[in-house]
Amino acid sequence: MSKNNNKYSTIDYGSYLGLDKLLDAQKLRSKDLQEIPAHDELLFIIVHQSYELWFKLIIHELESVIKVFKTNRVDEKNLGTSIARLERVSEIQKLLLDHLAIMETMTPLDFLDFRNYLFPASGFQSFQFRKIENLLGLDEASRVSYGGYHYSSPFSEEQQKELFSIKETGTLFDVMEDWLERTPFLQFRDFDFLKYYRKAVEKMISKEQEAIKMSSYLSEKEIQMRLRMLGSTDTYFESILNPEVHQKMMEEGNFRLSYKASLAALLINLYRDEPILHPPFKLLMCLVDIDSNMTSWRYRHAQMVLRMLGRKVGTGGSSGHDYLKSTGDSHHIFKDLHNISTLLIPRSELPELPPALKEQLSFTYSSSINK
Ligand code: HEM
Repeated sequence: MSKNNNKYSTIDYGSYLGLDKLLDAQKLRSKDLQEIPAHDELLFIIVHQSYELWFKLIIHELESVIKVFKTNRVDEKNLGTSIARLERVSEIQKLLLDHLAIMETMTPLDFLDFRNYLFPASGFQSFQFRKIENLLGLDEASRVSYGGYHYSSPFSEEQQKELFSIKETGTLFDVMEDWLERTPFLQFRDFDFLKYYRKAVEKMISKEQEAIKMSSYLSEKEIQMRLRMLGSTDTYFESILNPEVHQKMMEEGNFRLSYKASLAALLINLYRDEPILHPPFKLLMCLVDIDSNMTSWRYRHAQMVLRMLGRKVGTGGSSGHDYLKSTGDSHHIFKDLHNISTLLIPRSELPELPPALKEQLSFTYSSSINK
């Protein structure tokens, strides 16, 4: 057998990692276009390239998790693996946030040494970034557009097809919503979660109203204001207690997650101390973390852009800081999972689960295994 055909043939560090190609991929425009190359352009390129490498891994992890959840029944073992992969995505995002601090070691004046050579290149043209947004399930309707450009406009027809097909084949949002809708235990024999929850909420709200009314340090005006504020939280409770209110709020664009999935997410959050619900709760936390990290990055990047460019427009033609900041406000994906916190009630008010259901929700150990 020749050496090349042997699958166990040795390999060296450089060729395994493709370092020749990788380390030859930093082409400074300022080196080609001016007498003295701009010192910081290498930093600028490497930070962006690092992002793209990490984006590649994030896509790899998200695609694998979506694949697992597309099956109708998620195996317990796969749930653990999926959580680990989503936690990995979250850790990568945190690292990427820190990359911006490295970028900021370049001053705005140093940036001007080569910025002119970048037009019209821009992060707006990062295909992998758009792929991540679509894999996570960013809603088309909530996208902020700038100057009438669609986010897909910089890409080839083939790339656009790939981006749009993600919506058809299923996003992380879609598969998680389906999975939540399949959550058992909302109705268990004569235990109706919603019925018990309603009672607990009513008790909690009347206690809060009483506490406000009895307060000796609030003026009458303040008492009325606090009671009104409490009333606005009621709308959220109504949305989970009444499917029609939820439907209306969905139509008005206030909610995205289906009623059934929202109810399941609430149950998982409230009874997360029950052993069987630990992994689902962890999974929901991963989604909230990933969404928060994405938003933190958007604001942090917008802040960096303000520092670097002030009020200059971006090389891609946007209003720069203002456009980016508005994406932080509206490009949320799992906002409904954040909003579950509004619906939480203290553990002390939580309806007691029937013993048979409690048993179903715990890990049962059979001593006969050791016999
Ligand atoms: C000096 C550093 C940077 C500056 C001044 C900057 C500036 C901008 C500006 C002005 C935009 C808006 C589009 C435009 O008009 O061009 C933008 C978008 C973007 N940038 Fe940056 N950027 C910097 C670094 C980075 C880095 C390190 C990344 C990492 C990949 C990045 C990724 C993006 C992405 C993904 C968008 C599109 C965001 C969206 O449309 O939601 N940028 N950048």
